[in-house]
This record gives sequence, C-alpha cells and structure tokens, in this order.
Amino acid sequence: MKKSSLISIIAIAAVSALALTGCSSSTTDSASSKRACVILPDADSGTRWVPGDQPALEKALKAAGYEADIQNAQNDTSKYATLADAQLAKGCGVMLLVDLKGAAVAVTAKAQKQGIPVIAYDRPIAGADYYVSFDNSVVGQLEGQAVLDGLAAAGKDPKTASIVYGSGDPTDGNAKMFLDGALSVLDAAGAKAAFTMKGTWDGPTAGTEFEQAFTALKGKVDAVLSPNDNNAAAIIAILDKNHMTVPVSGQDASIAGLQNVLLGKQTATVYKPFSVEAKAASDLAIAILGGKKPKADKMNDGVPFIALTPINVKAADVVKVVAAGDAKVADLCTAAVAAACAKYGVK
Ligand code: BGC
Repeated sequence: MKKSSLISIIAIAAVSALALTGCSSSTTDSASSKRACVILPDADSGTRWVPGDQPALEKALKAAGYEADIQNAQNDTSKYATLADAQLAKGCGVMLLVDLKGAAVAVTAKAQKQGIPVIAYDRPIAGADYYVSFDNSVVGQLEGQAVLDGLAAAGKDPKTASIVYGSGDPTDGNAKMFLDGALSVLDAAGAKAAFTMKGTWDGPTAGTEFEQAFTALKGKVDAVLSPNDNNAAAIIAILDKNHMTVPVSGQDASIAGLQNVLLGKQTATVYKPFSVEAKAASDLAIAILGGKKPKADKMNDGVPFIALTPINVKAADVVKVVAAGDAKVADLCTAAVAAACAKYGVK
C-alpha cells in the first residue's frame, strides 16, 4: 500500500469518529472547566502510552484550546486513585482514563458524581460514558491471522502445529477481546493451544511464562500467539537464546516490534495510530464539553463505543508507519536492522 492510501485510511478512521459528534442532541450542561484530565496506566507495558499516546493527546487537546493534565499511574492502582483525587480537586471538565487493573471504575463513579463525564480511552471501563478504542476484536483477528500466515509460510499445518497461546493482562478488558478475536480465526483453522500462558502485559513476566511453556513443550514450538509487541520482544529473546525463529504475532507498531518484523522474527504487528485514537477521543471530549451528547454506532458492554480501524503491518508495510510519522528511520534502522531496512525500502 502506498503512503497516500495509508493516509486515507487514517483520515477515514478519524472522519468516521468525527461524524459521530455531528449526530448529537444538546442536553448536558457544559462543564465550565477547560481542563481535560488524563490518566495513563504505566510507562512500559505497551511501549505506547508515554512515547505515543501522551504527546498525541496533549497535542490534540491543546490544539482545541484545552489544558491537558496528563498523569501516569506507573502500574500502581493506589497511585491511580491518588492522581485522580488530585485532578478532581483541581477540577476537570472531562476525564480520559486508561484503566489499570480496574482502578478506573471507582474513579469513573467519583467523577460522574461530580457531573464529570468519563471517556474510557483505549481500555474499556464499566460504567464509563464513552469508550474510544480500536476495534479490539479485529486486532485479535489480525493477530490470529499472523500466526496462520507465519505457519503457512513455514509450510506447517495449523491443525498439528505446536502453538503457544499468550494473552494480555486478564484485568484489562481489551485482553479478552484480543484473545477472542484471535481464537475465532485460529479455531476456524483447526489450530489448538499446545500450551496456554497465563497472560500479562509485563514484558519480563511474559518472558518467564514463555520460558515455562518452552520447557514444558521440550522446545517444540512452531508458533506463538503474542498479544502485543512488548510480550513478543520478551518471547523472541527466549527464542533467540535457543537459536529459533518461529511465527510470532504482536500489536502496537512499537519500534522494537517493527524491528522484529523487519528482521523476520515477528510475523506482523497491528498498527493502531496514536494520532487517530487521540484525535477521536479529543474530538469527543470537545463535543461533550460543548454540551453535546454524541452518539456512537456501536456499544461495548452498554457503553457507547467509537471503534477505530486497526492496520496490519508486515515487513513490506513498515514504510507506511514511517510515512505516517509514527516511527523514525533513525530509531528503526540501527546497525543490526540496517540491512533489513534497506531490503524493505525503509529509508
Ligand atoms: C492496549 C495495547 C497495549 C496493552 C499494554 C492494551 O490495552 O490496547 O495497545 O499494548 O494494553 O499496555
């Protein structure tokens, strides 16, 4: 796909989210505050929140004339609650929360009690006013398909292949959607789990869980369903140690993930442009603050859901992420990756 078509995909995703703000009825009182309060979950689980979402949200909210108070709970649920209390004490016109192990549920109830609408950003939150995310079932389907494509390229039958199934932190509502999406594709192809890992967003824990799987299977691993690039990097490190390359899935189009894709160590990554997600969420926030009650075409667990379209990225597609400005050649094409960059035209 060419740069222009990628940009149009991004534009379509952004526009369809925007269109939602058009079909609105003005009922709610607009909060006087121009502050948008944002809480991110951690700094390392997804290699996205700090380098990707934070600047994208800040830019989108500031451009719309809002003050963006963006905090990071650093993977600590009590810190999450404390940060929220401090933000609420200062005043928020709207809250955009990325859940951390359910900590956002109580914060949502507290905010709503004060008349502050809550947008669940990326991860679902029970009782939130809105949910803005990528279509997480499709993300999972693309991951399952990456495993199947990798097996096909290796000439292996999914029905008999020894596949390790991984998933994200079970306390993140997205993790189940990713897994269910992947299973729908894998089950249909007759694939089965040779080993199922417990599921985590923590890289080192994913590495430990995979090492256990590897030992239990006596090294007979034909493919790994990995929920994101961060898990994939830890899994690939174990495979590397054992001089093995097998199909591995992932998501986030992180620098490490894209490098692994270029090197042929990861079959694909699912690209979910931060700029698109941040724009959709801030457009929604602005509409709410303007007293509108935007409608969404979809629902997720009773919460109006603005679903954006994820993009599959294989080695030949890495150029698209670069063209969209979401990965820099200088970061990607380090010494060990330079030859792969040249091969796939990443320059
Ligand atoms: C996000 C992923 C991310 C993961 C770990 C999920 O909820 O959708 O993009 O990799 O959390 O932070």
